[in-house]
Amino acid sequence: MVILKLPDEIEKARASNRIVAYVLSKLREKVKPGVRTKDLDKLAEEIAEKRGAKPAFKGYHGYPYSLCVSINEVVVHGMPSDRVLIEGDIVGLDFGVYYQGFFGDATVTLPVGKVTQKASRLMQVTEKSLYAGIAQAKDGNRLGDISAAVQDMVEDAGYSVVRDFVGHGIGKNLHEDPQIPNFGKKGRGIELKSGMILAIEPMVNEGKYKVQVLPDGWTVITKDGSLSAHFEHSVAITDNGPDILSKLN
Ligand code: MF3
Ligand code: CO
Repeated sequence: MVILKLPDEIEKARASNRIVAYVLSKLREKVKPGVRTKDLDKLAEEIAEKRGAKPAFKGYHGYPYSLCVSINEVVVHGMPSDRVLIEGDIVGLDFGVYYQGFFGDATVTLPVGKVTQKASRLMQVTEKSLYAGIAQAKDGNRLGDISAAVQDMVEDAGYSVVRDFVGHGIGKNLHEDPQIPNFGKKGRGIELKSGMILAIEPMVNEGKYKVQVLPDGWTVITKDGSLSAHFEHSVAITDNGPDILSKLN
């Protein structure tokens, strides 16, 4: 069941998502060779708590950290560790908070120092596919319009969309209906309505779409070892079109 939000609830969700965006902007400043991924987790936690927000992922289904740090062939749910960022890595930072009754959730993938053209293009296409999906998040459209827009952009660029993980509704819960696949057909699926808040999050592999979960039970990697990128925004559908909540202003 999809839960529609009232305008004042969307403003609360905006406040929560703005904290997420702020944390990601501070992490961006820290991302460089030599930084320990555990220290990024610590910093994210500290900044969120200073603003009165609770990190959303810690303890969620037993996840032990506040931040997901997904490097290179790691698709999603990489865990902070003593691993240090190395020049040429690409690193996905996925963060969420709970604040005044509402969840916020967003992800960026960033270059560590100078990266290859290949890696840079993968990140660019993935981010563009997120915005192509967001552009379809309009009252009266169908869920499949978002999915197809993402998939078309990704596959036209020669990449693959991950099938096993999807975006989601978000609000008083981190994960709500509907599930939002990054593949599908235009005109199919539920009708989109003003008041929905959707976390749209393309996960894009340079090679094939198949992924596997490591024995730690969390870390998801590409099966073929190819690079993967991930971007996510939480977006409200309004009568004036898509409203990206997980941004600074
Ligand atoms: N952004 C991810 C999601 O939307 C984060 C979940 S990680 C978890 O599902 F650890 F909290 F599960
Ligand atoms: Co999410």
